[in-house]
Amino acid sequence: MSDFSYQHGALCAENLSLATIADEFGTPAYVYSRAAITRGYMAYADACRDAGRDAGTALVCYSVKSNSNLAVLHLLAQLGSGFDIVSGGELLRVLAAGGNPGKIIFSGVGKTRAEMQLALSHGIACFNVESVSELHRLNRVAGDMGVVAPISLRVNPNVDAKTHPYISTGLKENKFGVAFDDALATYRTAAALPHLRVTGIDCHIGSQLLDDAPLLEALDKLIELIDQLAAEGIVIAHLDIGGGLGIDYEAEQPVAVGAYLGRLFARIDAWRVARWQGAPVKVLFEPGRSIVGNAGVLLTRIEYLKPGSEKNFAIVDAAMNDLMRPAMYQAWHGVEAVLPRSGTTATYDVVGPVCESGDWLARSRALCVEEGDLLAIMSAGAYGMTMASNYNTRGRAVEVLVDGNVSHLIRERELPEQLFALEKIIS
Ligand code: LLP
Repeated sequence: MSDFSYQHGALCAENLSLATIADEFGTPAYVYSRAAITRGYMAYADACRDAGRDAGTALVCYSVKSNSNLAVLHLLAQLGSGFDIVSGGELLRVLAAGGNPGKIIFSGVGKTRAEMQLALSHGIACFNVESVSELHRLNRVAGDMGVVAPISLRVNPNVDAKTHPYISTGLKENKFGVAFDDALATYRTAAALPHLRVTGIDCHIGSQLLDDAPLLEALDKLIELIDQLAAEGIVIAHLDIGGGLGIDYEAEQPVAVGAYLGRLFARIDAWRVARWQGAPVKVLFEPGRSIVGNAGVLLTRIEYLKPGSEKNFAIVDAAMNDLMRPAMYQAWHGVEAVLPRSGTTATYDVVGPVCESGDWLARSRALCVEEGDLLAIMSAGAYGMTMASNYNTRGRAVEVLVDGNVSHLIRERELPEQLFALEKIIS
């Protein structure tokens, strides 16, 4: 996480001390680096350009669920990004942030009629359809509106992404997509429906993938299908390989974005030359974590140190409601002291104030700390704030975006009164 480094004894976001940010905005706080987000996106954009692709032949559709703050979406929209959404709410966020609806793709297994209507009324680029029932529903909704819906089928290629079972999505037993063996028949159904226009094919096999072999295996299966579809006169104009590239949380060595895209484009280009006389196919990506994951930290303050016979606890003011990943996936996040002390270390579990034993952020960490010290929970830019809840009536954290040595408050801290403002007492 090179945008979070020690300068003059203090952990900084870009060139601003996290201690200064804590003084100004309080804790817990999500702190993001604008430079890191930009670099994360540009790794994809540059690899597309290096492969000779322009906006017409490659599109990065940032996966909004990973970090959906308007300022983050606005920054990415300005860089030229498209967006992968999974709800009407995410669509409205992207539009509010200035995103181009013509670069939005809509994934998800449970799209409602209202969400379909909303997306059609804004003219999004494509619906990634995940079932036969959804095809029929979308056809009816589009017909009622007098429009034609552009669609792609999310194919489940039955590839093992070799990642945590909760974030693996491309196996037969997962709820996602149309089974590979049913894909041809489902495309035939789609092609025959009058208010649908088949434009693409997509997949997303899982998240936090460290190796690109499963992704390239999934690509080969999509290629096979595209050729079979062409033989039936169904021409696929875009191929969406999904997101999924992992990041370095602890000591992982994920494949570099450029290397993966280089291999992917080489394979696609060779196939297009061999079978399609070089006719291009537009390639879409849906990355989330690999763009924002290491672009953010969760800044928290130690409220109490509680030594114990079995364990020592550092009780901090952030909790599982702020960062769910450890409780939910036993995920590992680095913990750094913002103003490191010299002295002897002790081993601590870093836990929050929520009334659950599962409320931990890090376990068995060697720390030299005192009450009142600030800690940064690292690699929290993706699936941090977006998965936060109000459990224990805890307002969600502030979000701050750092640009050089300037901080911008991009989401205020939630107040308790806001948390129950929609509730009603009955007589
Ligand atoms: N496209 C689709 C259809 C997805 O379902 C996802 C993530 C992505 C793209 C983006 O994947 P990425 O590039 O970020 O790996 N909450 C979990 C991750 C859940 C991922 C869900 N889908 C976590 O904290 O690890």
